[in-house]
Amino acid sequence: MDLSEEEIKQYLESTDFPSLKNERILITAKGGVPDKLPVWVMRQAGRYLTEFRDFRKQHSFFEICRSPKLACEVTLMPIRRYELDAAIIFSDILVVPQALGLEVVMEPEKGPVFPKPLTLDTLKDLDWNNPVEKLQYVGQAIRLTRHMLQGKVPIIGFSAAPWTLMVYMIEGGGTKTASKAKKWIYSNPQQARELFKRLADVIVDYLVMQVEWGAQMLQLFESSAEYLTSDVYEDFMLPLLKQIPAGIRAKLQTKNIPSVPIVFFAKGGRHLLDLQLQANFDVISLDWATDPQDVRCINKDIVLQGNLDPCALYADKETLQKYTTKMLNKFGYKHHIVNLGHGIYPDVDPQAVEWFVETVHAFKNPYP
Ligand code: CP3
Repeated sequence: MDLSEEEIKQYLESTDFPSLKNERILITAKGGVPDKLPVWVMRQAGRYLTEFRDFRKQHSFFEICRSPKLACEVTLMPIRRYELDAAIIFSDILVVPQALGLEVVMEPEKGPVFPKPLTLDTLKDLDWNNPVEKLQYVGQAIRLTRHMLQGKVPIIGFSAAPWTLMVYMIEGGGTKTASKAKKWIYSNPQQARELFKRLADVIVDYLVMQVEWGAQMLQLFESSAEYLTSDVYEDFMLPLLKQIPAGIRAKLQTKNIPSVPIVFFAKGGRHLLDLQLQANFDVISLDWATDPQDVRCINKDIVLQGNLDPCALYADKETLQKYTTKMLNKFGYKHHIVNLGHGIYPDVDPQAVEWFVETVHAFKNPYP
């Protein structure tokens, strides 16, 4: 992609977007029936792609995130290779803690690390002064990418949910137990509530900003759902979880911007299905351990996303097709956006994604 600074500037100023040629995912998210099932892959622009690994030799992770041009190039990598039905903007959930003043470094083998994780003593140092302003680069990347997609597929924006952000901020990186973050909830509930509330407000503004720049669908990642009991989740998170989609929709309405579908993905959230359904998202994304029937028996019309085991992509073609088709049959075609049950692993053969996408698109509606 050879764009001059002047061309980029012009694209960033323009909301005259190319018309959308593939609306499968938006039709499905709104409850309609598409010609073929829409499919995308969490972490589709990632290290399993050789072109991404080459790109990362020249640019650091957050350098890519902060440059609309570089983020756009990476976002388009999987779209060039596969017949995916959506692009997701290349970024990370941890740009939000960065905007609040916390340092995050991406370590080659370990993933994201906070050199100084958040403590009760440093809570007062978080910078709540307009963090969304500092994240405009994400919006700019979305707008540039929407132009560069030329209407091929819609672009998805995202954020993490308050609890998942808090886990990373307090644990300082990946965790097996989230016990430091949970300790706050049980021993300092007021501080925890205050932090969740402030994070939820930032998340609403951040996601609205992404739609203002051009995002056509949103996904809220609750990647740390497994650590909380349903009682604690209901008490601490449910009210905020309801406020997030409601707040986004209300703010878009006052700005006269059409609403976009909002997806909620709780990794390890099988014990929270009732609560997830109460929060009024447009789409509930299931991890690979959750059976679609477990949700459909509570709400038969909810649009679902998911949920092939990411490890199924290690299988040979025939086995992958077999498990993909079994998964598709369980969802039953209706109200289904196809995805993996969590992000794709870096050592997957890129060929497997092609087989997965082909199998999904060849799947015929059994109840036409
Ligand atoms: O899906 C996409 O293609 C869009 C990009 C995207 C990334 N991170 C790029 C990334 C998205 C949607 C995310 C979200 C994200 N980031 C989540 C929520 C989704 C989930 O997996 O539950 C979480 C928990 C993070 C935090 C994070 N960032 C971790 C745990 C890691 C390390 C693990 C890993 O898979 O590498 C990252 C790094 C990261 N984010 C990479 C990519 C492509 C790889 C880092 C590198 O290039 O060195």
